[in-house]
Amino acid sequence: MAATHNIVIPQSDLLGQLAQARRRTDQLFAIVRPEALYDRPIAERHRIIFYVGHLEAFDWNLLHERALAIPPFQTEFDKLFAFGIDPVDGGLPSDQPADWPSLPQVRRYVEQVRQTIDDGIAELIVDEQQQVHELSLSTLLHVAIEHRLMHAETLAYMLHQLPYERKIAHPDPPLRPGARPASGMVRIPAGAATLGLSRAGQSKFGWDNEYETHTVKVDAFSIDPHMVTNQQFLEFLEAGGYQDSSLWNASDWDWKIAGEIHHPAFWKHWGGRWLCRTMFEDVSLPLDWPVYVSHAEASAYARWAGKELPTEAQWHRAAYGTPDGEEQDFPWGSTAPGPQHGNFDFHRWDPVPVGSYPQGRSAFGLYDMLGNGWEWTCTPFAPFAGFRPFPFYPGYSADFFDGKHYVMKGGSARTAAGLLRRSFRNWFQPHYPYVYAGFRCITQK
Ligand code: AVJ
Repeated sequence: MAATHNIVIPQSDLLGQLAQARRRTDQLFAIVRPEALYDRPIAERHRIIFYVGHLEAFDWNLLHERALAIPPFQTEFDKLFAFGIDPVDGGLPSDQPADWPSLPQVRRYVEQVRQTIDDGIAELIVDEQQQVHELSLSTLLHVAIEHRLMHAETLAYMLHQLPYERKIAHPDPPLRPGARPASGMVRIPAGAATLGLSRAGQSKFGWDNEYETHTVKVDAFSIDPHMVTNQQFLEFLEAGGYQDSSLWNASDWDWKIAGEIHHPAFWKHWGGRWLCRTMFEDVSLPLDWPVYVSHAEASAYARWAGKELPTEAQWHRAAYGTPDGEEQDFPWGSTAPGPQHGNFDFHRWDPVPVGSYPQGRSAFGLYDMLGNGWEWTCTPFAPFAGFRPFPFYPGYSADFFDGKHYVMKGGSARTAAGLLRRSFRNWFQPHYPYVYAGFRCITQK
């Protein structure tokens, strides 16, 4: 194996990225007290132990046959841990902790999968065999890495809901004071937004839903310079926004009534005060943080304010367009995302005040387009023209082209920097309230 270290091949960087992604998810599971690993913090989702096994089962099921030609050693676990759940108005899972294998059994499986995959890939690299079943190993490794990094974020949503006493606290570092962004909306002149990725382009990785590239003409509009804050959302709530059915569309209103929802899921009303549930403690509601809400709540606020949610193309143009008609790779220009640009890449657990990163401002002067919370758009998640599912993962996106999921853009404190490419598209159901997602509004003039 030592020989592999002397060969410079593109995959070696990916192996380093895979190792780093594994460290991220290991660190995440390490905040869970061991006695809580069989808890189910969100009723609709699997117990935490499922995800410990899932990340490895996914990599194994993806790679063992297609890339490595290694036979399975524990098919029972490969199946047990294969799939998560995304229930749309479905029933709740009823499995018990005792239905799952013991922690040592799961940990042994994890170790064995990692070792077998790493040894197998090292051999492939020595063989300089790069094309396997007409798929490049590099694509499959990207899929494994990004799948894991996305779980590093969605697992944080889940652990956020785990009672504090079931977690080991890792408080956020203190924040350097930032600028208060101006109020008032920013006008974006009519222009083009180039969405997606080109297959004909070079070797950049993108998920199936990022292809093909295309240009959308966007009419002039105005957009909020920062995400809607807790303070702004509190004004909507205090004005009776949760009681006025005319602000909600029918299915959103039904969801709100059935769930008896009167405030954002991250808020608590206690002793006449508003508190915010952060990762490790309740804090007095930080009025200058972006509010995290469901798409339903974001839409109702926008209607109340006489505004709208942006389309995916409008958001894209606002983030990446420039006054001179060019388009940039990142809101701030072309430098790779760094800690000076925004609240992302696992530096913190929770949001920061809007406008804390002046160096991350977009060419049109908008704050926090990447980081500090995903942003809901009004665009249902759907394929771009030229969409082709990955043959080795046909349901990754296509299972969600059902009109019941909406595109989110941007990123949160728990989004890996590698996922902050312009073409990356995230999506969730409009009624899932645990996402690190907020919004900003637009008007059509
Ligand atoms: C792209 C974040 C919506 O978590 O449902 C993980 C990513 N897909 N495993 C999700 C995903 C399968 C997906 N999102």
